[in-house]
Amino acid sequence: MSPQRTKEEKKRWQDYAGERLTGSARAAPRAFRAGSRSAGGLRFIPIREAPRLQGGELHYGNWVPMKLIYIPGLLSLLSLAAAFFFLPALAAFCLFFLVFLYFLYARRAFSPRGGDVQDKILGLVLSHLDWNGEGQALDIGCGNGPLAIKLAHQYPEARIVGIDYWGARWDYSKAVCERNARIEGVEDRLSFEKASASRLPFEDGSFGVAVSNLVFHEVADARDKREVIREALRVVKKGGHFVFQDLFLLKSMYGDPDELMATIRSWGIKGAEFVRTSESAFIPFWLKLPFMVGRIAIIAGEK
Ligand SMILES: C[S@@+](CC[C@H](N)C(=O)[O-])C[C@H]1O[C@@H](n2cnc3c(N)ncnc32)[C@H](O)[C@@H]1O
Repeated sequence: MSPQRTKEEKKRWQDYAGERLTGSARAAPRAFRAGSRSAGGLRFIPIREAPRLQGGELHYGNWVPMKLIYIPGLLSLLSLAAAFFFLPALAAFCLFFLVFLYFLYARRAFSPRGGDVQDKILGLVLSHLDWNGEGQALDIGCGNGPLAIKLAHQYPEARIVGIDYWGARWDYSKAVCERNARIEGVEDRLSFEKASASRLPFEDGSFGVAVSNLVFHEVADARDKREVIREALRVVKKGGHFVFQDLFLLKSMYGDPDELMATIRSWGIKGAEFVRTSESAFIPFWLKLPFMVGRIAIIAGEK
């Protein structure tokens, strides 16, 4: 660690290292990179610290977009102004201000500066993947690449393909994925391409593993989102593994979870497990509300 670091930076470094070191044995390797300093000849670089050390800046994005803060913030200011002329508008101010505060809190809790809950949830997803790391994995709807890059750290021999439609709705792009992979030092094993999850441009059984995080519900050209799951499973080879996280507890989209699992098993999937994400202890109470993490679940298994 450089002696010029501020106390706060030093603490963050220690927090990260401590957090990773106390994680599962399987998760540990992805947290560190080979480098030049430290007793064993390896330099432990917490992933989030890497960009500063290498002169770049990671941008994985936040699942709470800024507009969810700006809009209620602006509406609360407008309703406060209106309350000077029409007192009942104070009630609207209180409501918008609470919404503003909530999303401000949630965005921070998801970010590395807050609880880093977003990164921890991705870690949780991968902790349900049963894979020896040999062969090729596909990340469906990779966004700015956080899950694909985490996978690359966790499995140093694996090659990973990330696909995404990269529409206007999200501030994600192929260029940012490639830059993030470069900063993280895994660009030689990752590739990214534009494609839709509803029609993956790959032959049946092309991948040893498929992963996906919070994407299937977004696929606009699939009315029945279970068909997106089926399409994802199509490209997994026999005996390959998968782990998908999405709004699987949203009945209006996926139906009853038991029926959903029965349907998936009827496609020949073995040992499929269903995990409610919000039951994880690291997720703060206020993020467990139904419109945040409350309806999210993980489905993992073997084809
Ligand atoms: C909530 S973001 C999640 C991104 C990323 N998986 C992550 O964990 O940060 C939803 C992603 O789904 C992508 N998406 C939406 N429709 C898609 C489609 N038809 N095919 C592939 N990706 C799609 C969006 O572009 C966006 O990157």
